[in-house]
Amino acid sequence: MSVIIDTDPGIDDAIAILYALGNPDLNVVALTTVAGNIGLSVTTQNAGRICALAQVDVPVHAGAAAPLGKEARPETGIHGKEGLGGVAFPDPIYPVASDDAVAAMIQILTEHPPHSVDLFCLGPLTNLAMLLEQAPDTAHRIRRVIAMGGAVDEPGNVGPKSEFNIVHDPHAAAAVFAAGLSLTLIPLDATRQLRANMDYIDALRDADCAASIASADLIAAYFAATNGAESRPLHDPCVPLFAKHSNMFRIEPRDLDVDIATGALVAGPHRIDVAMGLDADRLRAALLSGLSY
Ligand code: RIB
Ligand code: CA
Repeated sequence: MSVIIDTDPGIDDAIAILYALGNPDLNVVALTTVAGNIGLSVTTQNAGRICALAQVDVPVHAGAAAPLGKEARPETGIHGKEGLGGVAFPDPIYPVASDDAVAAMIQILTEHPPHSVDLFCLGPLTNLAMLLEQAPDTAHRIRRVIAMGGAVDEPGNVGPKSEFNIVHDPHAAAAVFAAGLSLTLIPLDATRQLRANMDYIDALRDADCAASIASADLIAAYFAATNGAESRPLHDPCVPLFAKHSNMFRIEPRDLDVDIATGALVAGPHRIDVAMGLDADRLRAALLSGLSY
């Protein structure tokens, strides 16, 4: 399957991207970047750095520098001002592509057969919302969207019921929910079940590969402000892991919408497949294996 990864790297984004780039079944044809965890210039530079570390040549296209109709609100407290937890990554090998994220999405979706390209959304949904606005028919050539975001029964991580990716751009999320795309949402209800401990970090280092060692360093940086026994949740890696191992997730149909004022998911008219649980042990094993390259 061909894949576009839309991302705001970001510590957990980086692990997700390294996993996807190393997986022969996931033909990553482009990275499109968005402002989110940090500003657009940093997320875009980081996307290039991640490809350089993986030694995989994937074009990087810069996208939206701010959410629809509001100011960007970076989360440097978690990801650091350079966005990768202070972990050293190489400089990008190739310059950022000249065409922006939406133009690249349009070109890729037009050139590929209908419903042959998946879109992995690891950050705010601004770029996808802009694609829907500018080229709705082209957007509906996407086979499926797998997006990390939201909180259904879980408390939020930004507000009582607000999760970062959705609340960063609620207008975009509402547009995506309403578009009638094949959408699987992976909210905090599932991602909070996938964490790493120090033994897992050791196992990544023992795998002794560039991607596994970098991921060990990224997860170690992700321990900050936790009880020290486990990392913060491995939110974004759940997206490519679902693409490869959907049987390790519990999916429930939910009728949802987005509360624009709070960014919370609320009951609404849009039927969406939602991951409400996962098999953490099997997914950690799959992630370790997929990063050993
Ligand atoms: O709430 C978690 C999400 O917000 C993840 O995508 C993380 O990278 C941040 O963007
Ligand atoms: Ca992210």
